[in-house]
Amino acid sequence: MTTKTFGILTSGGDCPGLNAAIRGVCRAAHDRYNMTVIGIANGYRGLIDGDARLLKPSDFSGILTRGGTILGTSREKPFKERDKATDAEIGEDKVEVIKDTYRKLNLDCLVVLGGNGTNTTGHLLSEEGLNVVGLPKTIDNDIYGTDMTFGFHSAVTIATEAIDRLHSTAHSHNRVMIIELMGHKAGWLSLYAGVAGGGDIILLPEIPYEISSISRHLLERARDGKSFSIVVVAEGAVSRSEAEMDKKARRKHRTKTAAPSIGYRVAKEIEEATGMETRVTVLGYLQRGGIPSPWDRVLATGFGTAAAALLAAGDYGKMVALKGTEIGAVELSEVAGRTKTVPADHYMVDTARSVGTCFGDS
Ligand code: F6P
Repeated sequence: MTTKTFGILTSGGDCPGLNAAIRGVCRAAHDRYNMTVIGIANGYRGLIDGDARLLKPSDFSGILTRGGTILGTSREKPFKERDKATDAEIGEDKVEVIKDTYRKLNLDCLVVLGGNGTNTTGHLLSEEGLNVVGLPKTIDNDIYGTDMTFGFHSAVTIATEAIDRLHSTAHSHNRVMIIELMGHKAGWLSLYAGVAGGGDIILLPEIPYEISSISRHLLERARDGKSFSIVVVAEGAVSRSEAEMDKKARRKHRTKTAAPSIGYRVAKEIEEATGMETRVTVLGYLQRGGIPSPWDRVLATGFGTAAAALLAAGDYGKMVALKGTEIGAVELSEVAGRTKTVPADHYMVDTARSVGTCFGDS
């Protein structure tokens, strides 16, 4: 079977590179394989609302460097709509509505650009009989089965520029500057931006920290005449004691310390333990904004054209993936329900330790 008409949607957190990927899929599919492209608005929500339109070449031309997504996105999880109290299906069965829209639009395939949740939903829909091809998108780089996701490199670039700027103000004020980065439950973004920005301390979800280790490192730096330090904290980082708690206990524990997020909690602990003046920057959504880096433009375009080739071959149920320097594909069933976190013995962790970076664990 080959693909004559396909739908394309972007789902989950936006990131630079989404439009480059849309352009890659659509231009290759239309120009090389003569396919018809249906744009679906706002992720899976658009399939539920029937919010779809024919995309013309002018729609996917000139968008390589545009941030965000021309299609819009949402965090709609159609398989997750269950009533928490009774665990019963609520509202109309969204999955049946999606399948009905897929048929009404006369789609041969659905191309989904997204993170873990999006590709997991794509896999579940393929189990419901839809043809699905996925592309790995997220600034978190936490999708199993691919060495890198598009969006990650742009976020590392943005975060590194921010860390560079913090060095000058930290030095001027002899302060400890904390920068809290995104990454959800994985530490890839903080690890790579921390190394790129020369972070003195990097705290990752995968390596629970002890405040005693952090303060010892800061005091040693002060004794060596380094009057300032940069601490890169992943939003999912946890202390050793918190790592041993379940979700409920951790939430209860955190209500005791009135801090809006992990960066502020760590700052309070550092000031209490060392007396050093500490300030916090939460970089937030800036990591998801603006234009894609050149590498992300290349990666997203490569993923897009590889997805178009899967469509032409009728090779469904797969997610395109980067393996080393090659773009291939993995089964969506392999990706679904999994997250790629930083192994504590990852070479980049060892690289950072080799240049004196502290992970709060020694
Ligand atoms: O998955 C990308 C991401 O930016 C995470 O790093 C972050 O934790 C989350 O999305 C924020 O979600 P939202 O955009 O719904 O606030």
